[in-house]
Amino acid sequence: MKSIASAPGKIILFGEHFVVHGTKAILAAIDKRVTVTSTFAENKTIKVNSQLGTIEVPISSSHEEVKSEFRPFVYLANKIINSEQNVSGLEITIDSDIPIGVGLGSSSACCVAAAASISELFNELSSEEILKMSIEAEKTIFPDTSGADCTVCTYGGMIEYPSVEKIDNTFDLNLLIANSMIPHNTKNSVEKVNKFKENDEERFSQLCDLETKLIDEVITAMKNNDVTTFGLKMSENQKYLEEIQISNDTLRDMINSLKEISLGTKITGAGDGGCIITLVKDENMDKVPALLPKDKEYFSAKIDTKGVVWSTIEE
Ligand code: PMV
Repeated sequence: MKSIASAPGKIILFGEHFVVHGTKAILAAIDKRVTVTSTFAENKTIKVNSQLGTIEVPISSSHEEVKSEFRPFVYLANKIINSEQNVSGLEITIDSDIPIGVGLGSSSACCVAAAASISELFNELSSEEILKMSIEAEKTIFPDTSGADCTVCTYGGMIEYPSVEKIDNTFDLNLLIANSMIPHNTKNSVEKVNKFKENDEERFSQLCDLETKLIDEVITAMKNNDVTTFGLKMSENQKYLEEIQISNDTLRDMINSLKEISLGTKITGAGDGGCIITLVKDENMDKVPALLPKDKEYFSAKIDTKGVVWSTIEE
């Protein structure tokens, strides 16, 4: 039997970093996906094949013994195998069209798709169970995760985390994602923000309050079909991200170069590299190539509404 699951990548529209400290955040799943295929194997090993390489370890190996990018898969395989009898081995294959390490949820989508794919070899799980397992798996690489990324990759659509209810946005968001091509490390950026907080608890708490207020205003703007305010709030959110120091010159240059054609632009995800998102007016989409440096990639993002999906095939 073969079990195939796929999960979408994501963008954070508002609230990254502050969400780790308990504020709300607005996230959306995007139309780029990771697919994880799991099959039984005969040789008492867990084998993982991905764009990042292949590993094969004895079935009882600890996830801590493998390179960090493979940890969630070995963790999930062991957790699920341990609760089942007579499993001789597993082979897990990951195919992804989500750029890696640039804030588009590649690792969360992998955890969600792997939790669904491996567990569906044995039992039908609910979305809540898949989400719970995927967050545990993500914690093997990033213990402080807010869980927001796995949540939107599981449920799809646009959500106001921690709620999983889909926001019914009244206008089409013409969102463009531009990749700085600088890989980032979420753990390091989150630690940097923790230091900022330790050094100035009072200002950090004010910023969390400002972020909460901003998100409430965004929700109202969406209800009022007010795309201009939505864009302005993106740029306002960027100011808070600048203040907590997760921006850099490359990201600022990219944001500035898109200013004349956008309603608002900000970092999405952990920052210090990775991607920016910009709300572009329809009539300006064809001006983007001339404004961004040639070494940056960009693409339009459509919102995925399906979240994680899975199926099994008898062979
Ligand atoms: O850049 P990413 O995709 O790893 O996003 C991280 C988002 C943070 O808010 C910085 C961390 C989190 O767990 O929410």
